[in-house]
Amino acid sequence: MVAVYPGSFDPITMGHIDIATRASALFEDVVLAVVKNPSKTSLLSLENRLDFVRGSVEHLKNVRVESFEGLTVQLVKQYNANIIIRGLRAVSDFEYEFAMSQMNKRLCPGVETIFMMADLEYQFISSSMLNEVARLGGSIEGLAPQNVVNHFKLLHA
Ligand code: COA
Repeated sequence: MVAVYPGSFDPITMGHIDIATRASALFEDVVLAVVKNPSKTSLLSLENRLDFVRGSVEHLKNVRVESFEGLTVQLVKQYNANIIIRGLRAVSDFEYEFAMSQMNKRLCPGVETIFMMADLEYQFISSSMLNEVARLGGSIEGLAPQNVVNHFKLLHA
């Protein structure tokens, strides 16, 4: 069974990697799909976001990384999949995720969104918070993969 894990990954965090790792143990194939034009303005370029994602999940042999434009459900159909994976951190994620899953189901009946609870260790992480801390010179060691940590370190070198 193929599952699609979409997101803006701006940048990918240890929280996302945890979800991708757990999804890769549950599904035959996982397509980690990086949206080209996120609904919120992205801070990193698509190339950077893709590079960081590719570099940090290459050890997961059944995870392929793609970028996509348009609707997530179109990508899901393209892969003959019917599962969307999303991570949930706190109750505050619920409303947005609930609405998105209902809309996706309406757009493409048969598509199921499967939510995985973020690991306790990573519940407080968000890409925008990491971006802010890193840009202001704080350490994001252990919260993002090493390629992301190095990228921000270089900005401050
Ligand atoms: N651990 C830690 N943080 C996590 C996490 C986890 N397990 N899972 C998500 N997050 C955080 C991210 O860091 C990010 O933080 P931010 O808001 O500060 O940037 C946030 O949760 C969500 O980011 P991400 O998981 O990358 O998803 P997204 O909400 O940016 O992605 C899409 C949304 C791409 C899935 C959605 O916009 C989409 O489907 N777009 C395509 C167009 C479409 O089909 N629209 C109709 C949808 S109904």
